Amino acid sequence: MNQQAGSLKWNQSIRIFSLMIASFLLLFVLTACGSGSSVSTNNTPDMAAGSATEKGAATKEKIVVGSDAAYAPFEYIDTKGEIAGLDIELIKKMAELGEFEIEIRNLPWDTLFQEVKNGGVDVAISSITITEERMQTYDFTEPYFVANQLVLVKEDSPIHTFQDLKNAKYVGVQNATTGHYVVQELLGKTSPKIKSYESTPLAIQDMVNGGSDAVVADNAVVLEYIKNNPNVKFRSFDDPSFEKEYYGLMVKKGNQKVLDLLNSALQKAKEEGVIKHIFGSDVE
Ligand code: ARG
Repeated sequence: MNQQAGSLKWNQSIRIFSLMIASFLLLFVLTACGSGSSVSTNNTPDMAAGSATEKGAATKEKIVVGSDAAYAPFEYIDTKGEIAGLDIELIKKMAELGEFEIEIRNLPWDTLFQEVKNGGVDVAISSITITEERMQTYDFTEPYFVANQLVLVKEDSPIHTFQDLKNAKYVGVQNATTGHYVVQELLGKTSPKIKSYESTPLAIQDMVNGGSDAVVADNAVVLEYIKNNPNVKFRSFDDPSFEKEYYGLMVKKGNQKVLDLLNSALQKAKEEGVIKHIFGSDVE
């Protein structure tokens, strides 16, 4: 009798104990799921689920970023179909440091400028050289990269200097880029020798196919193209007349709020060595 009562009690406590373990497990699974979904929506790991959602939504500014993603290594579409590149790494890091959210859109170069002007995007990061002319219509952050132009020709081309472009039949450029402007400077603004394309890769491909004799574009982009296309024999060179160009992020003129946000994030990026890490050097 006593023995029976005892084993009944024992059975009961085992049952209660397993119930407790089960509910612990359930609680654990639920919590893990909860914080998991908060990570993907807010990009703020290591925070309690509820507070991350509320805090993220209440304080984080959302910035729409535009880029002409046909300018490797700075911006391009990777094998997964996503926008990638050094500029993209930079803006993502800036968003982290400046605690704002970003949405990145791929836009053709000409459209990009229009969209910044009419507010379709808040900022453009696209290897954009800060120029006096552009500063009439746009505001720029502090510079983050130094570049210069390079002339790209096929290895066996008779063109060896920038001046030789005067003897070329056609010179290819991406429309309304600083490469386009230096060639206009040399050949005349409306010279029929100048072929302007929507993107730099298009300009180079046409040159490879014989549609032009040379292309002028930013140094790192020309060198990256040569590296990525070892099947074609290229040669590239610069000219003493090519000035140093400084890349900046571009906003609509007078958009001080976004400009301040970007500049302070960029400042932090510089201080933390992010620029050097991404681009291999600091802005001199
Ligand atoms: N740095 C040059 C400019 O500002 C060319 C930039 C082109 N960038 C691009 N993503 N297509 O004119």
